[in-house]
Amino acid sequence: MCGIVGYVGYRDAWPIVLKGLKRLEYRGYDSSGIAIINVDGFNVFKKAGKVSVLDDFAKDKDRSGHIAIGHTRWATHGAPSDINSHPHSSNDNRLHIIHNGIIENYLTLKEELINRGHEFKSETDTEVLIHLIEEIQNIEQTDLLEAVRLALNTVIGAYAIVIIDRGNPDQLIAARKGSPLVIGVGNGEYFVASDATPIVEYVKNVIYLKDNEIALIKREELLIKKLDNVIQTPLIQELELKLEALEKGGFEHFMLKEIFEQPRSVKDCMRGRIYPATGKVELGGIKAYADKLKDINRIIIVACGTSWHAGLAGEYLIEEFARVSVEVEYASEFRYRNPIIDEKDIVIAISQSGETADTMAAIEIAKEKGATIFGICNVVGASIPRITHAGVYTHAGPEIGVASTKAFTAQVTVLTMIALYIAQQKGTLTASKLASLLTELEEIPGKIQTLLLDNDLIKEIAAQIKDAGNCLFLGRGSAFPVALEGALKLKEISYIHAEGYPAAEMKHGPIALIDEQMPVVFIATKNSSYEKVISNIQEVKARKGIIIAIVTKGDTEVKKMADYCIEIPDADEAFLPLLATIPLQLLAYHIAVMRGCNVDQPRNLAKSVTVE
Ligand code: G6P
Repeated sequence: MCGIVGYVGYRDAWPIVLKGLKRLEYRGYDSSGIAIINVDGFNVFKKAGKVSVLDDFAKDKDRSGHIAIGHTRWATHGAPSDINSHPHSSNDNRLHIIHNGIIENYLTLKEELINRGHEFKSETDTEVLIHLIEEIQNIEQTDLLEAVRLALNTVIGAYAIVIIDRGNPDQLIAARKGSPLVIGVGNGEYFVASDATPIVEYVKNVIYLKDNEIALIKREELLIKKLDNVIQTPLIQELELKLEALEKGGFEHFMLKEIFEQPRSVKDCMRGRIYPATGKVELGGIKAYADKLKDINRIIIVACGTSWHAGLAGEYLIEEFARVSVEVEYASEFRYRNPIIDEKDIVIAISQSGETADTMAAIEIAKEKGATIFGICNVVGASIPRITHAGVYTHAGPEIGVASTKAFTAQVTVLTMIALYIAQQKGTLTASKLASLLTELEEIPGKIQTLLLDNDLIKEIAAQIKDAGNCLFLGRGSAFPVALEGALKLKEISYIHAEGYPAAEMKHGPIALIDEQMPVVFIATKNSSYEKVISNIQEVKARKGIIIAIVTKGDTEVKKMADYCIEIPDADEAFLPLLATIPLQLLAYHIAVMRGCNVDQPRNLAKSVTVE
């Protein structure tokens, strides 16, 4: 949530920062701004709207300079406007700051600063922070690094910040607590950003700044301290990210590219982890807890959004294969209860970004109560993998489209492997059953590939229902999370109101909504509840609803009743979410495109939700 980029070095800073902001737009896209220092002074450009608006606005202006900071915003305090956009400036207009996060005690600080004569232009918490730094520097007569350190010791909240000073045009100051920040290490130049995507094309080495660290960054110098003033030795890591992964690769949208990447991403996720020939699952990241898993009786999954849906699929998989009781919790609810949890429990936190504030808070609570925490994350080196005891990366590659697609299937793949791994430790499956499930799991990428061939058919179906005002998604058992995920995809990118429901629950409410205008998507594959779902389809048919059914290849029964059918390859019921979700992703995608929506950056949403 909010993307930040900074540069100091010998190159022109503007194009680097601007391009970086475009790469980070998935984090927030309601306004943006850049502050740049040059020999004649400095310039600050800020505009409501997308980064392209800022780009157009600044085209004929002086954008020269070798040091700059830029920000793309997802509004928390104050509406998206030119004034509320970052960078924000100190009272004397000397210091400029970009900030991702929230300063919780900003109102108290603001009052004190107003009493001391500060005047504020915006409604943001960020502007208060830069005025506070200025005030401390004036009172203490210290250098900026020390003033920032002292100020950060007095604020409550989360932040990743970068500051430039007109009076010291060769330095950036960066700090983080609870929001990510990575420093790119070049030759005579440094980059700072919310994640590595803006800097991957310039440097190979990065330093992930840790919580409570503050950095002084000059062209030839880097100094990192803790907020308690202790100097740190930075850990330089090689960047694994590839530039191609951040480009659309010929697809019209990132979302479509990411949907089509799923045969590969699911395969990458399983690579080196499953061995069908020997019937073994190896999960190096949680291996140290193999003995604990032997005796585990309860697992709690915490997550938000699509990751929560993956958690529901995980509940089915772990209970089915490992016979361990699973509870799936919204992290945002879990954190504000007094959850009953102790050192015998394992908590699995699922997060694509590895930065979601509610999921992080839920982890902290579970940790305080003594539970063992596993993380399932996609972004390597993000905050969640650092605060968990162990974990399994999804290795789906960067996901740029705000609507999660390949991250979901990779999360479900990891949960399938975890379920089978626990089953292996507990001996709840016979060796031959385990081997046959692993063989089937290995075949999933190929089956996804086949499914993608139906893209044109799905597009035709999308054209038929694109004008609907509402849509219902129904499924049972392992298909229920698929129904929820199908509905979420549709509502978030096409703005059609959609609900996912367990098919049998339809008669307790949603059935009242059904008329000839209402598309109802059924996951009606051949599994244990097939007959029951057929009855539900008949109930909808009797009320003239438009039936779209996801069916098993070769199905004849449902085809007689449904208006439109999409076939998926046969598979064990437990693997259904890995297959049935794909056509629903495509359906949502095509409907959104036909409705003229911004598929990759739907309104009001952000990919990384670092505020609660
Ligand atoms: C946001 C994103 C969703 C995502 C959710 C949880 O709402 O738009 O796509 O599922 O956050 O994010 P996480 O990174 O924790 O999986």
